[in-house]
Amino acid sequence: MSIQNVLQDVLLRLTPTESERKDVELQVKKIIDVLTTGLKKSYSDFEVQVEGSIAKDTWLSNNKELDIFILLPQETPRELLQDVLKTVKHVVGVPWVERYAEHPFLEFSMNEYKVEIVPCFKVLNSRRLKSAVDRTPFHTQYIKTHLTPRLRDDVRLLKGLTKGIGVYGAELKVGGFSGYLCELLIFAYSGFLNLLQEATSWKHGHVIDIENHYKNAYKLQKLFDSPLIVVDPVDISRNVASALTLKNFSIFIAAAGEFLRNPHFHFFFPPPTPMLSINEVLSRINSRGTHFLFLGFPAPSVVSDILWGQLYKSILALRTLLERNDFPVFRTDIWTDEQNLVVMIFELEHRSIPSVTKRFGPPVILPQHTIKFVSKYIENKNTFSGPWIDEDGKWIVETKRNFTKVEDLLARTLFFNDLETIGLGKYVAMEMTSAKIYMDSEIESLLSTNPKFLDFFIEYLIKTPKWLTKSS
Ligand code: CTP
Ligand code: CA
Repeated sequence: MSIQNVLQDVLLRLTPTESERKDVELQVKKIIDVLTTGLKKSYSDFEVQVEGSIAKDTWLSNNKELDIFILLPQETPRELLQDVLKTVKHVVGVPWVERYAEHPFLEFSMNEYKVEIVPCFKVLNSRRLKSAVDRTPFHTQYIKTHLTPRLRDDVRLLKGLTKGIGVYGAELKVGGFSGYLCELLIFAYSGFLNLLQEATSWKHGHVIDIENHYKNAYKLQKLFDSPLIVVDPVDISRNVASALTLKNFSIFIAAAGEFLRNPHFHFFFPPPTPMLSINEVLSRINSRGTHFLFLGFPAPSVVSDILWGQLYKSILALRTLLERNDFPVFRTDIWTDEQNLVVMIFELEHRSIPSVTKRFGPPVILPQHTIKFVSKYIENKNTFSGPWIDEDGKWIVETKRNFTKVEDLLARTLFFNDLETIGLGKYVAMEMTSAKIYMDSEIESLLSTNPKFLDFFIEYLIKTPKWLTKSS
């Protein structure tokens, strides 16, 4: 199939249908009316408007998400945000959750839609913000005035591609391309195919400065130090791609090249993960010859970005702990449903290591240190051999290590240490009192009760991206 044909078919599936559009319009109008009527009772000066991809007409079919903003006058005191949200809660009359990442907002479900109500300040200058979300209306305006219908189609293709290859979304869990970044990239490169073509020669630190705000790319690279730097046309102090990780930047470059060489639907609509039986999974674990330590614990109930920030930090701390204790870590990964359960995976070269370990001491030419070292180890019940003097003129001893089994090391650390001081996130540390360790085939119980985790773990074992096929 030609690249044009593939894209045509893909676009048909990504573009909302007329009836979808009508329904979205209806829901948006309903919410705006309800909020406006409700807020009018207490406030005189405000605007309620739809933002995000609905306002920009860059949303994907089936993306049932509405971003509704309440714009308050610039001089409104910050404390009033909470008041406004209180009124909104009263008005919406359906169960809601209040979320707080860096800015309070309200989230609820309505007729299959996820609705976010975000209060912000209507500032006059997009570089003089009062809160982090005040930039959004400027983004909407910029995109609405710069994108033609053809470019909006191309934004849908880019969102579809980045979703399909797993790099869509600026949230911490993903570290990928935000909707606004996709829109700017399409505008900057005048279209989808040209963007892919150019992306194949991107290098780390690539700069895109649409409005030519900066004279010199080198200065920008110093300023932002990111794999991709896209100057925000409405706020030159901001890199729109700041959340993009080097890994996802690289996945995009590789997938762009691969798609141009070999275009097919899998880039946009990945096939389901092959089903392996639990026995097959266990036999694959076994045949790798490594050992798996799974650490399962309840998911702390905090917002997604905070949860993922803490999980990334904590798994790094645990990996360091294992390696410092001579358990080399082959690979790690994290799975969570963000509600009930987190499973950290540590694949290890060894599950148990010898009882004996070497400790290297000072050179004999340092008498003070020598006395200390020798008196510590000589005639010590934990000393196997030595101390003696090695070829390089230094003391050495072979002594007993504290932990020979990785599960003992971890269990002891998790249940008896101050976990924040070894680098675990606060909320993760709090859940460790009910953590459970599963070694190798013991994971069967979690795999058999948790189909999503099973899927994730099969992908861990397969690992090849779904878009990558045999080179033709
Ligand atoms: N936004 C925000 N705070 C929220 C929700 C949204 O500041 N609680 C802002 C984002 O910064 C973005 C806009 O609202 O500028 C829309 O966010 P998002 O839904 O992530 O992006 P869309 O452009 O709508 O893309 P998508 O099609 O993925 O929904
Ligand atoms: Ca949205």
